[in-house]
Amino acid sequence: MEERKREFYTLSNGVVIPCPGFGTWRMKEGPETAAAVKTALDLGYRHIDTAAYYRNETSVGQGLRESGLAREEVFLTSKVWNTDRGYDTTLRAFDRTLAALGTDYLDLYLIHWPAAANRFPDWQEINRQTWRALCKVYREGRVRAIGVSNFLPHHLAPLLEEETAPMVDQIECNPGWQQRELIAFCQAHGILVEAWSPLGQGRVLGHPLLAQLGEKYGKSPAQICLRWCLEQGTLPLPKSNTPARVRENREIFDFALAPEDLAAIAALPPFGTSGHDPDNIDF
Ligand code: A2P
Repeated sequence: MEERKREFYTLSNGVVIPCPGFGTWRMKEGPETAAAVKTALDLGYRHIDTAAYYRNETSVGQGLRESGLAREEVFLTSKVWNTDRGYDTTLRAFDRTLAALGTDYLDLYLIHWPAAANRFPDWQEINRQTWRALCKVYREGRVRAIGVSNFLPHHLAPLLEEETAPMVDQIECNPGWQQRELIAFCQAHGILVEAWSPLGQGRVLGHPLLAQLGEKYGKSPAQICLRWCLEQGTLPLPKSNTPARVRENREIFDFALAPEDLAAIAALPPFGTSGHDPDNIDF
């Protein structure tokens, strides 16, 4: 409970993970992304989230070097993309990710999306083989923690029987898409939930309740969303290209949402999903 109010979480294997993380989806390869990463690090972020699919790993690595911080001061996450699922292909993708980032280890490596039954009759075996590749690089000490993204309980269950269980599930989560059952499942199995699109890609920020709570606490609707993530025990990964917002998105540790305000958010109907259903993706 207490840890929710602090600027880090501890994974099931004891690795400490700084909170919040800086998301980089939709940031393209190039000097702007390197500059955005450097700005985030200058403003105190110590956790950068990227993915092979974002095609910005070279620039993320560049920003990290330009920050002047030592590699071990920054928690670096990447993800294996859907076209690289499988044991050998995942191992090769991991090597490419390290090379692009210009580092010899990752802090966290995730399976980006589960192979799902709608497209793959052997989806469980595909996910198992991909997972075993992550277990191998973990065993070898080339990554400090491993996990998944967008996995629902039935995707997670087979992996919980493997030699190493996932330590993280990164899912879409914000006050407009609350994922209560999935969060409860993960927490019951010692899996930290990271929240992608904690601001609903900006969509949820105009909701009157968030504006009203923002006024009450002297915070922005974005900060209410991010604090709500912390109150759920999840680790938000907000992204922004705007330095003032990057700063604002870390100023979430000096207030707490009262029980009645958490109850009011809990009572909201779903209004903030991207619409990507992990069981029905076509990519
Ligand atoms: P911008 O990059 O122009 O600052 P999410 O992290 O949920 O995907 O949301 C990202 C979107 O929310 C981006 O469009 C970003 O815009 C916007 N955003 C990020 N932080 C804030 C903030 N503090 N206030 C308002 N909008 C924000």
